[in-house]
Amino acid sequence: MTITSAELRSAFLDYFRRHDHEVVPSSPLVPANDPTLLFTNAGMVPFKEVFLGREDRGYVRACSAQRCVRAGGKHNDLENVGYTARHHTFFEMLGNFSFGDYFKREAIHYAWEFLTQVVHLPPEKLWVTVFEEDDEAARIWLEEIGVPPERFSRIGAHDNFWSMGDTGPCGPCSEVFYDHGPEVPGGPPGTPEEDGDRYIEVWNLVFMQYDRAADGTLTDLPRPCVDTGMGLERLAAILQGVHSNFEIDLFRNLIRAAASATGVPEDLENSSLKVIADHIRACAFLITDGVFPANEGRGYVLRRIIRRAVRHGYKLGQERPFFHTLVQPLVDEMGAAYPELAESQHQVERLLRREEEQFHETLEQGLKLLESDLANLRGAEIPGETVFRLYDTYGFPVDLTADIARERELTLDMEGFEEHMEAQRERARAASRFRADHAGGAEVDASTRFTGYDQLQDAGTVVALFADGRSVNRLEAGDKGMVVLDRTPFYAEAGGQVGDTGVLQGPGARFQVDDTVKQGSATGHLGSVAEGVLEVGQSLHAAVDAERRAATQLNHTATHLLHAVLRERLGQHVHQKGSLVAPERLRFDFSHPEPVSTEELQRIEQIVNARIRANEPADIRVMPYQQAIDMGAMALFGEKYGDDVRVVRFGELTTELCGGTHVHRTGDIGLFRIVEEGGVASGVRRIEAVTGARAVEWVEEQARTVQAVADLLRASPENVPVRLEQTLERQRQTEKELERLKQKLASQAGGDLADSAVDVDGVRVVASTLDGGDARALRETVDQLKNKLGSAAVVLAAVDGGKVRLVAGVTSDLTDRVKAGELVNAVAEQVGGRGGGRADMAQAGGSDPEHLPEAMKTVPEWVRQRLH
Ligand code: ALA
Repeated sequence: MTITSAELRSAFLDYFRRHDHEVVPSSPLVPANDPTLLFTNAGMVPFKEVFLGREDRGYVRACSAQRCVRAGGKHNDLENVGYTARHHTFFEMLGNFSFGDYFKREAIHYAWEFLTQVVHLPPEKLWVTVFEEDDEAARIWLEEIGVPPERFSRIGAHDNFWSMGDTGPCGPCSEVFYDHGPEVPGGPPGTPEEDGDRYIEVWNLVFMQYDRAADGTLTDLPRPCVDTGMGLERLAAILQGVHSNFEIDLFRNLIRAAASATGVPEDLENSSLKVIADHIRACAFLITDGVFPANEGRGYVLRRIIRRAVRHGYKLGQERPFFHTLVQPLVDEMGAAYPELAESQHQVERLLRREEEQFHETLEQGLKLLESDLANLRGAEIPGETVFRLYDTYGFPVDLTADIARERELTLDMEGFEEHMEAQRERARAASRFRADHAGGAEVDASTRFTGYDQLQDAGTVVALFADGRSVNRLEAGDKGMVVLDRTPFYAEAGGQVGDTGVLQGPGARFQVDDTVKQGSATGHLGSVAEGVLEVGQSLHAAVDAERRAATQLNHTATHLLHAVLRERLGQHVHQKGSLVAPERLRFDFSHPEPVSTEELQRIEQIVNARIRANEPADIRVMPYQQAIDMGAMALFGEKYGDDVRVVRFGELTTELCGGTHVHRTGDIGLFRIVEEGGVASGVRRIEAVTGARAVEWVEEQARTVQAVADLLRASPENVPVRLEQTLERQRQTEKELERLKQKLASQAGGDLADSAVDVDGVRVVASTLDGGDARALRETVDQLKNKLGSAAVVLAAVDGGKVRLVAGVTSDLTDRVKAGELVNAVAEQVGGRGGGRADMAQAGGSDPEHLPEAMKTVPEWVRQRLH
């Protein structure tokens, strides 16, 4: 019996456990606190800090089966998935690691033993490469292991020097290949035919020796290390005697599920099925690890993968959401090895479904647009404008359009696309320049020291003045402009916290500050001269509006508390996506896939308030970045931090990297109230809240509203819900009763009116006024009369506020001669109106009720004439 993927995973980990390696569970796909990397793209990523010597885990040998995604980053395989036998967005990497313990010799011996003794690959089927300058590794392979020189090659840095990303640990490597035999086309590594399928790389042994800096320079790691990586799916394919990864046990089952979800026959050659089977793994695990579909960053990579899968389903003829139904079969395959996947199954399904539904709204139209553009296509290139429109209006990621183009052997005009993108960016820039202009716009060649953490007043010297974006020497009373001081207690807008307002004052001069902004390393005070003249070189007294700053601080600290509580209550996938900290309120955007329930919001609010009452003191310190991260400080993804960072901590409640201003103790916040929760984008929620005096005002306002309602209901505030429910119930009953009475009235009136019918040559004619009848009552009564009277022509009128409303009806036996539309018009014309409609039922209006009685009298005669 051949070995399954699950058995292989265990065999690998067991082998290295026996050789004193710590078995480390797979880390999430989003690397913790590593903004340099999009996704975990190799088994070594979770150990990056250990390689760099910055972290000590208490063990020096480890092994893992690590989930990886190679899409959208330095290692990006997305485009090739479905078209080759071995590319995946998501895969599992088996690896063993040495942190300054063993090096080349043991790494090579372990690898060889595992391959030839544990999983029994025939040695004569293996081929080995080393980095061209690595004589040491070459000697071990050739002399100690005894690999024959004809199955061995030296390769350059392109293939045999591995780096995690543009920066980070890297080193030369040695690779082991499996030879599928001469019947498969392709040549050995290092030959021009190496891209063929005959020789397949199975294991990469990296001899980690350097740390690559952003400028490309390499520095030695504290100690040489080993990092190895072997794709689980590849090795499984070899051991299961199949050529393509998609034919291994795990993928066969997923492809079967994909076929049944899209309604096509199971076919291991169908590239759309392969794409779907591959993508469900990446998408489900990314969501499990806290990535949600979005328009940028990691979320956009996820969105691209989902949309690519959905498009392939559509291509197979599945026009309804199906992708989310593949989560169950995936959990069946991988849930045992990855319990976190099984736990988040329902959330993954919901989110995928929503994303699918959303894309379905534009997918079909987008494809139509593309088809019609392709019909007019001359040449083999899809115009940039089409690519841009598909992207901008129909939500087609560029790689999705490229995928379609590839199927048709077309290419994309990427230059044209970029031009359209650039034009759009320019429009956005023009919009934001607007504000910059107001801020002065000019380059400020100065720097300002911020002294406002501990004081709200200070003296500073004017180092520059600006008006209309130009540097000036003086500003006079009435002038608007920007003042730059050498030091200031004014906080410049940053990290979501708004800029301070206040006053700058000198002898006989006063500048009103409306906002404070950063201008490079300087601080710009924006506002106008209220009095006197300001000049460069002058000394000014700067005073921040203390009340406004104090209110802002409450909201800033409350934001940190809220952030921490959201992560505790909703999960670690919650990340800050945006923040506004103003004196009036705070606004916090965070990643979360669905609305937060009212009960959960109440709970969150209660916990934040409990933490306010815990009255923890602020502990604010500046320390090296790494020390802060080790302390558990939360850093924001995509944010650049310097070597030294400011850490804001309140006891055990929250620790964040933050440059903003905060309260002294959490108790200063007083009270926290959430006033709103809503969605801002798919996967992003927003909470707005108030604190301190604002929160008290808000509560009072609510109480006043409840009291006002209570007064109206003549109830006590606590009885309002019951009383209101009773009142609403009574109203429903009353409406029902009213409806019943109206109908009764109409049928009574109908009866009376039937009696009033006159006979015109065998046809019953009614022309009458119905007091208080609305349009519906008139129509219903006309219908009743028609039913009751047999052969009949009816006109009913009602007068309401100086207007006449008319409805006429004629039974169908008469409509060839007497038409209701003409009848109603004949009456309407006499009361200053017009009307018309169908031959059996018509309505009209008029503005002259005085003539109604006479007009109605003409009806029998009008009917008589029509009958003849
Ligand atoms: N980190 C190495 C790789 O990903 C082993 O190939």
